[in-house]
Amino acid sequence: MLKNKKILLGVTGGIAAYKAAELTREFVKRGASVKVIMTANASKFITPLTMQTLSGNPVYTEMFSLVESPEISHISLADWADVFVIAPATANIIGKAAAGIGDDLLSTTIMAARMPVLFCPAMNSNMYAGPIVGENIGRLRRSGYRILEPESGELACGVEGAGRLPSAGEILDEVERMLTPQDLAGEKILVTAGPTREPFDPVRFITNYSSGKMGYALAEAACKRGACVLLVSGPAALTCPRGVELVGVSSAVEMKEAVMRRLQDSTVIIKAAAVADYRPAQTSGAKIKKEAGPLRLALERNPDIIAEIGRKKGRRILVGFAMETENLIGNARIKLKEKNMDLIVANDLSRPGSGFQNDTNIVKILDRRGGIEELPIMEKSAVANHILDRVLALKAREPEKKQGRAKKNVRRP
Ligand code: CTP
Repeated sequence: MLKNKKILLGVTGGIAAYKAAELTREFVKRGASVKVIMTANASKFITPLTMQTLSGNPVYTEMFSLVESPEISHISLADWADVFVIAPATANIIGKAAAGIGDDLLSTTIMAARMPVLFCPAMNSNMYAGPIVGENIGRLRRSGYRILEPESGELACGVEGAGRLPSAGEILDEVERMLTPQDLAGEKILVTAGPTREPFDPVRFITNYSSGKMGYALAEAACKRGACVLLVSGPAALTCPRGVELVGVSSAVEMKEAVMRRLQDSTVIIKAAAVADYRPAQTSGAKIKKEAGPLRLALERNPDIIAEIGRKKGRRILVGFAMETENLIGNARIKLKEKNMDLIVANDLSRPGSGFQNDTNIVKILDRRGGIEELPIMEKSAVANHILDRVLALKAREPEKKQGRAKKNVRRP
């Protein structure tokens, strides 16, 4: 996502300035070009040489300098970048930007910036909570600047409160969001992910190999594209993507309840969870002790969640998955039709690089018109974006559908 993007990083003079080094490394690691502007005070906390070494580019510190390339000015730096991140942003730079003061290279470059600008405030919690900083931040927001709220916790000055610079990962997420077209804004997407657990005593359960990676990738991609995302997840060792609302469930019955409760409120439902089809008919309240002979477990059917959604979905878009080890297309087509899905993402579990646990997937997307789109092996995040593109394409056809219905209703004289 950040590959080949040009990021201008403004570093100001707070103790969190040292974290700008790690941030620069992370940007570069993801393939971005980074140029750094440092204020005079920032250079007291971290050296320009460090930032130059990590960014691989000269560091800009002076407004008027003969040594730094003569064509470099606040204007050309502002023109160069796709996105401008000020991290950490002190109360001073926030105040100067809000008041229109340009008395050094960083503050004048902010004024000349036409690209998206992100301020990451970091300071003592009393300064942050005070009325002046609050007013200035409000002013920047109203002028279209993005603000990444600082975290709460122990601050370098020894006090506890809000004022800590968010982690490099969180800043990166925010920058990616700023560079991503918000083409899913207004959509409410419900994604299910992960396995379910069907217990038969307090210490044992039946489950499957699902890691939840595909569902989490879908939730993250949809959120970055501006959708409001609810993730209903079975037990998975993954972190909920920032900005996504997580509802944790364990069994298929719990997943069904969580999903059906929120169905009315969703415009798109994507069922990437690997739901157990059966659960033990009886759950023992105490641990089952081993005996000499074999143990027989009776299983009963779990609810088919997607089939029920299919019956109640109305105009909502429903995307399901089919995990198969044989007759991929045939089985997927039956599921698509019988469960009233709009798209089904079929993955052949027998192919290396596909299915559970992997970071990649190899899928075919089938639609109701009989179309089959075969995708090459891809990162799950890329597969997720592709599925979301298909959802958008279906959405774009909605007026066409409505027109078609209207035409059918026209009485001919
Ligand atoms: N699914 C569901 N509820 C179930 C089982 C599956 O909602 N009890 C959903 C899955 O989330 C997936 C789709 O149905 O989107 C297909 O799941 P899959 O396991 O491939 O197929 P099943 O319908 O369970 O059929 P079978 O196990 O017989 O292949």
